[in-house]
Amino acid sequence: MEARYPSESRTVLTDLVLPGETNPLNNLFGGELLARMDRAAGIAAGRHSRRIVVTASVNHVAFSKAIPLGSVVTVEAKVSRAFKSSMEVVIDVWIEDRQTGDKTKANEAIYTFVAVNESGSPVSVPSIKPETELEQQRYDAALRRKQLSLVLAGKMKPDDATELKALFT
Ligand SMILES: CC(C)(COP(=O)(O)OP(=O)(O)OC[C@H]1O[C@@H](n2cnc3c(N)ncnc32)[C@H](O)[C@@H]1OP(=O)(O)O)[C@@H](O)C(=O)NCCC(=O)NCCS
Repeated sequence: MEARYPSESRTVLTDLVLPGETNPLNNLFGGELLARMDRAAGIAAGRHSRRIVVTASVNHVAFSKAIPLGSVVTVEAKVSRAFKSSMEVVIDVWIEDRQTGDKTKANEAIYTFVAVNESGSPVSVPSIKPETELEQQRYDAALRRKQLSLVLAGKMKPDDATELKALFT
């Protein structure tokens, strides 16, 4: 399988925050944002693999900035690294200023998707070739995050998480 570039999976979803999607402080519900990020990341993983993909894990979410009612929210997802059947997808969330059009980073998240066949069994995906400095940084850190996620899920022994352990030694 030929390797692909992260830019080939880039997926951008832009939508408003409507009244039914807010909490009592009139800010976007965390769960609504998680769903938007899951959709964008799933499309990105599907674009990279050209396969059915399922969410295997939400590895990191930082709700660093509240998103008020009426905001124009852009969710941008790109595959940062592909392993055998799994793909890490990094998602950046931006709010657009209505008057200036300037975009401010509001949140970010990292999801893991797995490509599967029609019976739901994992299948191989193409590898990825980072092009930019940021893509290379995200690629380099992805193996540590995969190992952490597997250790936390009880699917890997901490002793086998060599990349992760190297952070502390
Ligand atoms: C995700 C799923 C396909 C993994 O199946 P599995 O039998 O555990 O398969 P494997 O152990 O072979 O793992 C497959 C890949 O997923 C990765 N993976 C599994 N759990 C993971 C986790 N918690 N974090 C990171 N990666 C994970 C494995 O490392 C492996 O990656 P690799 O092939 O790139 O090395 C399976 O658990 C599943 O179908 N889950 C439900 C998915 C779903 O419905 N999501 C929507 C939520 S409602």
